[in-house]
Amino acid sequence: MAVLPLKYVGEAVLRRKADKVAQVDKPLARLLDDMVETMYAANGIGLAGPQIGVSRRILVVDAGEGPIQLVNPRIVDQNGRQMGTEGCLSIPAIYGEVERWKEIVVKGLNAEGEPVIYEADGLLSVVFQHEIDHLDGQLFTDLAVGLIDAEAIERDHEEDEEEEEE
Ligand code: NI
Repeated sequence: MAVLPLKYVGEAVLRRKADKVAQVDKPLARLLDDMVETMYAANGIGLAGPQIGVSRRILVVDAGEGPIQLVNPRIVDQNGRQMGTEGCLSIPAIYGEVERWKEIVVKGLNAEGEPVIYEADGLLSVVFQHEIDHLDGQLFTDLAVGLIDAEAIERDHEEDEEEEEE
């Protein structure tokens, strides 16, 4: 397995609608393993193909219950709404509140090409929706209210401290 370089906001691949996978093969399964390793190396809980420059409908998530690899995911049912704080490996140090479905049912294929179905709520539901948005070229900052720039806050804080020292 290998840790892959991440793509960051501003790169066109993050805004492109990703292509459906026609066939799940060995190279794709290897890529999904690399994506899991890349997600863990970056301390993330989800990663979508475009974030490693691969414009195909693939994603990995781990919301605390172990890694899930999903090909051609689609939401087939949804219920309720919830607000939650989100960030993104492709948009470092930015956080915001996003409204999402509370419960969803996601269908897709696993790394062996077999059909799988997940009934998700809570964090797993949010991560699935965030990653599926990536496959459609959408970023959480498009939907978020009250964006917080953690680095800017840190900079301001440092400037305040410098001023205090003078
Ligand atoms: Ni993201």
